[in-house]
Amino acid sequence: MRIKWLRSAMVFTVVFSMFLMAFQLKTASAKSTDDQKVQQIISKMTLEQKAQLVIGTGMFFEMPDSIKALMPPGFGGEGDSKDPVYSEMVKRIRKYLPGSAGNSSEFTDLGIATQVLSDGPAGLRIQPTRKGDTKTYYCTAFPIGTVLASTWDTDLVYKVGQSMGNEVKEYGSDILLAPAINIQRDPLCGRNFEYYSEDPLVAGKTAAAMIKGIQSNGVGTSLKHFAANNSETNRMSVNTIVSERALREIYLKGFEIAVKEAQPWTVMSSYNKINGTYTSESNDLLTKILRTDWDFKGYVMTDWGGGSDVVAQMIAGNDMIQPGQPKQIADVIAAVKDGKLDVKILDRNVGRILTIMMKAPRYNKYPYSNTPDLKAHAEVTRQAATDGMVLLKNDKNALPISSGVKNIAAFGNTSYDFIAGGSGSGDVNEAYTISLFEGLTNGGYTPDDVLTTVYGAYMDHMRAQAPKSNNPLMALMMGKQPISEMTITPDLAKKFADKDDIALITIGRNAGEGRDRTDTEGDFRLNKTEKDMIKNVANAFHAKGKKAIVVLNIPGVVEVASWRDLVDAVLVAWQPGQEGGNSVVDVLSGKVNPSGKLAATFPLNYSEAPSAKNFPGVAEKSNKKDDAADLSGFSFMRRTPWEVVYEDDIYVGYRYYNTFKVPVAYEFGYGLSYTTFDYSNLKLASTNFSGKLTFTVDVKNTGSVAGREAVQIYVGSPSGKLKKPEETLAAYAKTKLLNPGESQTVSFTIETKDFASFNEATSSWIAEAGNYTLKVGASSLNIKQTANFKIGKELSAGKVTKALAPSREINKLVSK
Ligand code: BGC
Repeated sequence: MRIKWLRSAMVFTVVFSMFLMAFQLKTASAKSTDDQKVQQIISKMTLEQKAQLVIGTGMFFEMPDSIKALMPPGFGGEGDSKDPVYSEMVKRIRKYLPGSAGNSSEFTDLGIATQVLSDGPAGLRIQPTRKGDTKTYYCTAFPIGTVLASTWDTDLVYKVGQSMGNEVKEYGSDILLAPAINIQRDPLCGRNFEYYSEDPLVAGKTAAAMIKGIQSNGVGTSLKHFAANNSETNRMSVNTIVSERALREIYLKGFEIAVKEAQPWTVMSSYNKINGTYTSESNDLLTKILRTDWDFKGYVMTDWGGGSDVVAQMIAGNDMIQPGQPKQIADVIAAVKDGKLDVKILDRNVGRILTIMMKAPRYNKYPYSNTPDLKAHAEVTRQAATDGMVLLKNDKNALPISSGVKNIAAFGNTSYDFIAGGSGSGDVNEAYTISLFEGLTNGGYTPDDVLTTVYGAYMDHMRAQAPKSNNPLMALMMGKQPISEMTITPDLAKKFADKDDIALITIGRNAGEGRDRTDTEGDFRLNKTEKDMIKNVANAFHAKGKKAIVVLNIPGVVEVASWRDLVDAVLVAWQPGQEGGNSVVDVLSGKVNPSGKLAATFPLNYSEAPSAKNFPGVAEKSNKKDDAADLSGFSFMRRTPWEVVYEDDIYVGYRYYNTFKVPVAYEFGYGLSYTTFDYSNLKLASTNFSGKLTFTVDVKNTGSVAGREAVQIYVGSPSGKLKKPEETLAAYAKTKLLNPGESQTVSFTIETKDFASFNEATSSWIAEAGNYTLKVGASSLNIKQTANFKIGKELSAGKVTKALAPSREINKLVSK
C-alpha cells in the first residue's frame, strides 16, 4: 500500500515537474518571441517614428473654444505637426475613443497599434454621446477611492476592478489611468477622494487588488501619481522636500506593494518635484527605485503636461510623454542628432512601450462590443459602496431605521442632488445618479413631499441665481459644487417633526483636481446655516421623541466634533458612486450591516493635523540655493507654493496622533456595526521572530444581526537607533459574514518588511533587536488582544539603492 502510494507520488512529481518545465519553456519562448518582435519593429523604425511614439499625440477631448483658448499650442488639437503623414494618423486615432485622455502613435505598416489611454480612477471616463451617433456610451461611476479603501476588503476591490476593466475593454480602451494611490497626508488635499488612505499598507493592498482586477480583463492600468503628490496647489511645479525615510516608509511604500504584487502595465509619474527634481526627470525614482529595487516591467508615462525637459525625462526612464506636443517630438529628434540623447535610450523606451502594446486589446484586434453589462456593474457598485460606508455614531441603536418608520423628512440639498464622485479627470460620465431621495423611495420609504417640493424650488432658484463662472476650465475641474443650504428655522423644523417619523440631514461637499480644500466654514468646517439646520431639526425631532440622523456625502474628512452631539447617528456615505442613494438606504434600513472603517483619521480640528503647518507649502523658497520652480509645462494654476517641507516626516495620520497622544474625533480604523464582536484566543506560532510570524485570532459575532469585521494587526516596535511610531499597521483582514453567535478563526502571517524601518545610513530596511508588541485591534486605538514577540538580533528586510536624498537638512518631527 505504502509502496503504491510512494510510486504514484513519484509519478505525480515527475509529471508535474515536466509540466512545469514545459510551461516555463513555453512562457520563456513566448517572451523571447515577443522580445524579438519588438526588436524587429524597432530596427525598422525611423528616428522620427521613434520620437513620435514616445511623445503622445496631443490632448483632444472635445472642449469649448473658451477652454481651448487657455491651452498652449499642441493641446486641444491646435498646432499639429507639419508632418502630413503624422497629422493624418493623429486625426484618425482621435476618433477611436472620444473622451479618452490620450493616445500613443499608430504606424500600421510597422504593426504598431495605438494604445488608448483613458481616465480613471472611479470608472472609465469617456464621452457619453458622439456627434452624429444616436447610441450612448455611459460608464459606471463606481465609489471613489476612499470608499474602496474603507471596505478593508481586497476581494471586493478586486471585483470592482474586474467590472471596471470590463468597461475599459468593451469600450475599446487599452489602459485605464488608475489607480491613484498617493497618501492622504493632509485632510485638505483636493484629490484625497481619488486616493485610498493615510496608511501605505491599506493604499498598497487596495491598489494591488484593483490592478489585478482591472488587468484580469487583459487591459492595463497606470499606477499614479508617482510620487509624493499630496497636494494640488501649484501641483505642476511644487518642490516636495522630504526625507529618504519618510519617502520609503510612507510615500513610496504603497507604490512598492502595488508594483511588486500586481505589476501594473504602466506607472504615471507625478507633476511635482521631489527634493529639487521633477519626478518625471528623476532617474533615482524612475530607474533606481522603480526598476532596480522593485523590478517594474512596464512603461512610465508623465502626468498630463508634467515636467519640463523631455530629454531629461527620456534619460530618467520616463518612457512616454503625455499628452505630448509636436515641439517635444522635434526636441527628441534634435537631441539624438546633437548627441544629447543616446539613441539606445530612445530604443529602450520605445521597446518598453511596444512590449506593453503587444498585450493590449487594440493591438490584438479585440472586437469590443460597446455594450458592457452596465446593469451587472451597477449591482457591484451598489454593494461596494455599502461596504465602504463608515458609521461614526449610533446612540441607542438609532440605526437601522426601525421597522415602523415610513415617513422621512430629508433635509439638506444633497439629499436631492447627491454627489456620486469628485471632479476633474476622476469624474465619470454615468447615465444616472441615484439621490438619497430616490433611494428612500426605492427602499419603500415615503420622503415628505412638501419638503421635497420646497427643496426642489429652492435649488432651482439658487441655480438660476448662481453667477456663471468666468473661468470655464476651473469650473470643469471643480465640478458640481453643493448649493448653500436653505435656512431651516426651529418653526419650520417643527412642522416636519410633527408629521414625519424620522429626520435625515445630508451634508454635502465636493472637491477636485487642481485645487485643495480649505479649513473654512462651508468646506472642512460646517457653516452656521448647516449647523443651525442640524440643531433645529434635531431639537424639533427629539422634542417629539424622534431621531435625527446625519449623512455625510463628502470626498474626505470634515470637522464633526462641534456638532455630532446634537444628533443620534452619523453615517459617512462618502461619494459612493452612481447607486449612492440606494447604497445609503441599504445601510440605513439595515439591509446591509455597515462594516466600513476609516482609512484616514478625523481630527478634532484641522490645526491639529501633523501636516497642517506645512500645507500646502510656502510661497517663497526657503533655501535660495535650491533650483528654481520653473514655469514650463502647461498650467493655468497658481505658481505658489514654491515648496512644501514634510516636517511631519514618518508621523503621518495615526502614526502621529497615537504616538503623541493627540485626541482625535475618530481614529484610523474606526467604524461601528449594528452588531458587536468579541476577540479572543490570540495564538502565535512562536514568540521569537526570525523573519516570519504566523498567528491566529478568533472573532465572534456577539450581537443579534449578521455582520463583518475588519480585523487590524498593528506592531509596536522598540525605539532603538531609529525612532518608531507607537504602532504601525502590519496586516489586516475582513471576516466573512458572521451570523449571530458565529466565530471565525482569522489567520495572519507577517514578515520583517511589514513593520521594518528604513535606515538612511545604510539604505536598508531593518527591524532592531528588542521586544515587540503584536496588537489585534478593531481600530488603531481599540486594541482587543495583545501578545509579545522578540527579535534577538537585528533583522534586515533588504538593502536598496541610495536614492532621492534631500540636498539640505529638514527640520523633522522624527528628530525632535
Ligand atoms: C491628472 C491625471 C489624469 C490626466 C489625464 C491629469 O491632469 O492629474 O490624473 O490621468 O490628467 O486626464
